[in-house]
Amino acid sequence: MEIIKVKGGKPLTGRVRISGAKNAALVLMAASVLAHGESVIENVPRIQDVEILISLLQSIGVEVEWRQDSTLAIHVPDNVCQRTPYDLSKRLRASNLLLGSIIGRLGFAEISLPGGCDIGSRPMDLHLKGLQMLGFETQVEHGYILGKAVRPKGSKIYLDFPSVGATENIMMAACVVPGSTIIENVAKEPEIVDLANFLNAMGAKVRGAGTDIIRIEGVPILKGVRYGVIPDRIEAGTYMTAAAISGGDVTLENVIPTHVQPVVAKLRESGAKIVEVDDEIRVTAEQKAVPLDIKTMPYPGFPTDMQSQMMALLSLANGTSVIVENVFENRLQVADELRRMGARIKVEGHTAVVEGVERLYGTCVKATDLRAGAALLVAGLAADGTTEVGHAQHIYRGYENVIEKFTNLGADLEAVEN
Ligand code: UD1
Repeated sequence: MEIIKVKGGKPLTGRVRISGAKNAALVLMAASVLAHGESVIENVPRIQDVEILISLLQSIGVEVEWRQDSTLAIHVPDNVCQRTPYDLSKRLRASNLLLGSIIGRLGFAEISLPGGCDIGSRPMDLHLKGLQMLGFETQVEHGYILGKAVRPKGSKIYLDFPSVGATENIMMAACVVPGSTIIENVAKEPEIVDLANFLNAMGAKVRGAGTDIIRIEGVPILKGVRYGVIPDRIEAGTYMTAAAISGGDVTLENVIPTHVQPVVAKLRESGAKIVEVDDEIRVTAEQKAVPLDIKTMPYPGFPTDMQSQMMALLSLANGTSVIVENVFENRLQVADELRRMGARIKVEGHTAVVEGVERLYGTCVKATDLRAGAALLVAGLAADGTTEVGHAQHIYRGYENVIEKFTNLGADLEAVEN
């Protein structure tokens, strides 16, 4: 088990550069399978989820290599394999994004269901509904989604929920299906816009990304391109929250301020001072957070991926806050670990009532998922004594150079292997 030890009590100060977005990099890497020729993706974070997807791509015959620190070159041969292996797929939920790209490229695909996940049930009904409406036959057999083109044709698809993954899989397949596709009630996350820009650079015709309706005209072929991933808004939000909880003064570089607006708004409400200049954001906080209420929602609502970190911050607020988790049902479970640190949090159903306490105390806790791990690190920065965050491998899945970045900001933390 990997552990990160944090000694709390030091205000973070200095500058931190935000890496490329995990969730954008993963979907662009998957989408590269659609392209003939070589795709070169820049600003890819070197995190474990990316490494697992590289292994998955290689396992189906795709050539992938790091060109420089954060540049990936991807070349897809004509005889790429249609079947993804379970042992790698189960380690990465985003492996399901290969469904849209492999089926788009080959006309058939056998994708291992990624399986359960600590943050809640993660069905794929909307992905399959969309593909069926595009003329693909799909069935689930022996833990695999089997899909094949029967009468591929553009269609009008309505998503019952603006699922990020379903929007992405349907977009990828629709780009190379003949005719016009209209997808309604789609996800509007910045990663969707990044995917649309990437696909368009490859020769696709996608319009409307970032709004509720995406329109796609199918094209016969897509070509490899060079493209840079957007900055990671969740990594940015995590460092902003860390700056606030530690009473620090931190400037984030390489941020798109509009992408982090929901988090900025809540941090301002909590009393932090935030100044945005071009692609930089400076966060300073001098006193305990003011309590506030949060409801997670699809973008541009407050991101579920930032909910745990905010719970850590609000654990030390000057009063009682209410958090409602509307996206993933198990995502309030970090409360159990924060309670071990002295937090006073009551969870009922989708709601957590967080009564701010005077102090948090360092102890042994465990990361149950990626963002829970980030939240425990953030809490540890402000706790008395040393916090040992176990199962830290979850944190390495999504945060590039996390030890180095926090250390450069003056935090006292080290990685230990147990
Ligand atoms: C993506 C992100 C994840 C983020 C989430 C919500 C990636 C790799 N991951 O996950 O970090 O937390 O968006 O912003 O980009 N649902 C269905 N049926 C479906 C698909 C989804 O009911 O077919 C439900 C899910 O159970 C969940 C909700 O929709 O309750 C949101 O899921 P979705 O937006 O699909 O999340 P992911 O794409 O898996």
